[in-house]
Amino acid sequence: MNQVTASAPGKLMLLGEHAVVYGCPCIVTAVDLRVKVTIEFINNNEIIINSPNSVRNITLSELQQPHKYPRDTAFVEAAVENFFSSNNVRSGLNIKTEGPKTSYGLGSSSAVTAATIESLSKLFGLNLPKKQVFEQSYAAVLAVQGKGSGFDVASAIYGGTIYYKNGGEIIEEMEPIKLPIIIGYTGEKVSTINLIDHVAHLRSKHRTIIDGVFSVITETVNSAKLKLLNREWEDFGELININQGLLDSLGVNTEKIAKLIWSARSSGAFGAKISGAGGGDCIYVVIDPNKEKGIEESLKSAGAFLVPFSTNADGVRIEV
Ligand code: MEV
Repeated sequence: MNQVTASAPGKLMLLGEHAVVYGCPCIVTAVDLRVKVTIEFINNNEIIINSPNSVRNITLSELQQPHKYPRDTAFVEAAVENFFSSNNVRSGLNIKTEGPKTSYGLGSSSAVTAATIESLSKLFGLNLPKKQVFEQSYAAVLAVQGKGSGFDVASAIYGGTIYYKNGGEIIEEMEPIKLPIIIGYTGEKVSTINLIDHVAHLRSKHRTIIDGVFSVITETVNSAKLKLLNREWEDFGELININQGLLDSLGVNTEKIAKLIWSARSSGAFGAKISGAGGGDCIYVVIDPNKEKGIEESLKSAGAFLVPFSTNADGVRIEV
């Protein structure tokens, strides 16, 4: 095989963000916002990465020395580097990445990393099992951003809805239940790393309290998991509201997010919360299906863009 294309989905964090960075559990569902990576062998010692905004050329020897990653191609470059060293292979490659123009903070970096490793695994005839695709992709993400729980990488690889804990020690694939939710984008982009740092700083000052918050977040995640599996959406909504209060206590809520959340709750939603780091990006709402239209209207008039992607999407896959 001389050319392979793989695609991977984005993710929507349902509950457990921030605490998951400290080994606590979270629940995440994959969204059908796919990133595609096409890779072919070339007969010289170069890696050429064509991304929608730039082209990057790097020789194999430059790739293997410590160097800075350019912003546009960082995750692909780190993935190739990690794949070569983990599997003891190398070759010149031509790589093309494609994805949606806006990713709404729904995990395009982890998706592009997972799709790169999966493509390479097929191209080199290794057919790595999911767990190894996860480990090599997560290592690449850490090489670029230095921190992160890896839940987004696992979601890009396993797809569906997963219960994730402790850097991937537990990745439990849950029954793919249709989620009665609406995703709303705040229009504000955020730096996840800054928010992780903010929580780390707060924890360094108030360790017992913040660890207490993480342990209550863990309770909400574990209870919400059972409610989800039993399709008890009103109770699930209540639990995500409690979780939202805990995220607020970590200082990652904003006025805009609060406005969107309250617009949904006031129109009869069962619950609404931040999805992800907070500070902007997306919220999601658990709806009472009888009130769907009213909730949508009130979210839009509060300034949300409704993100039209379905959940429980397939994990990374080879495209034919
Ligand atoms: C960001 O989407 C979720 C965080 O928990 C970071 C992470 O888990 O890597 C804040």
